[in-house]
Amino acid sequence: MQSEILTVVVERYDPERDKAPRLVTYRVPRQEGMVVADVLLYLYEHEVPDLGFLWECRTRRCGTCAMRVNGHPVLTCSEPVREDMRISPLEGLPVVRDLIVDRQELQERLAPWAGETLDGSGKDARILLEPGEIAHYRALSECIDCFICDSVCPALAENAKGGPQFAGPRRLIRLEAQVQRRAEPLPWLMYAAQSNPSLCTRCFACTEECPRELRPAEAIGSLTKRLYDRHELDPHKTAHITSFVRSILRGAWLDEFRLLVDIYGIVGVAKFIPQALRMLRHRKLPKPHFGKTAQASDIQTILQDLDNRS
Ligand code: SF4
Ligand code: SF4
Ligand code: FES
Repeated sequence: MQSEILTVVVERYDPERDKAPRLVTYRVPRQEGMVVADVLLYLYEHEVPDLGFLWECRTRRCGTCAMRVNGHPVLTCSEPVREDMRISPLEGLPVVRDLIVDRQELQERLAPWAGETLDGSGKDARILLEPGEIAHYRALSECIDCFICDSVCPALAENAKGGPQFAGPRRLIRLEAQVQRRAEPLPWLMYAAQSNPSLCTRCFACTEECPRELRPAEAIGSLTKRLYDRHELDPHKTAHITSFVRSILRGAWLDEFRLLVDIYGIVGVAKFIPQALRMLRHRKLPKPHFGKTAQASDIQTILQDLDNRS
């Protein structure tokens, strides 16, 4: 039986007062059909007038209400309430106040191409889609900018540590949509190349968490393949892809030693010796593998078949 009163823990943070987020417990009367945004509105109207949170459309269209409930990113305007909820801001983005995160820096990564026509004429050559392609294109173009995919992306989190910057799944799914509908996609592919899609780790967290089921990881795979096929990616950034493919074609086995040599060169591999010794000490160093796996010919036949179809 459902309780009449919901116990809700809200992660609160006031940058002028708090050194770290603090957890505050509230009790909220449950109502029929209540969603998480209703809980926040109740708190704002009855108990916590300074509670910071955002929402606009309440119809899953604007993306502003994205937060985490018990660690899981959701659109709070459509997420049903449950017992013992902990409501937190999206992870991976700076917190402005309570449940509001700063989307500005990631939003600016859509520049310079957002809203632009590339030839400056106000017109841009587009292609007519076949009826069978429309559903696929709509799926790509229905991103609501909720930032959930960016918030769970480990490759984007790595950016903070320096090195080549990955633009994130939200930007890349839009670029793939632009490329698909343009008669001349090259300028858009150049923007895509600058976004470093090959830094995606293929963890699929963005696809798993997207509330619109848009499959950004697959869109990035498609974009990366287009760039790879057109040799538009920096060869250094694609060395691992080339090596991986060669390795699978050779023996249906990922040869991690050769992967390192292909990416860094024989001299460059020397810098990994201390790390390799540490791994050896902890028995984490992969064993060298020579020859082919038992299923090599089956795997190679499948790859060949896929190649013929693409
Ligand atoms: S699949 Fe790629 S883009 Fe998606 S969350 Fe993982 S690393 Fe990020
Ligand atoms: S791709 Fe999905 S998760 Fe990412 S911003 Fe768009 S709607 Fe949100
Ligand atoms: S309030 Fe707009 S998507 Fe939730």
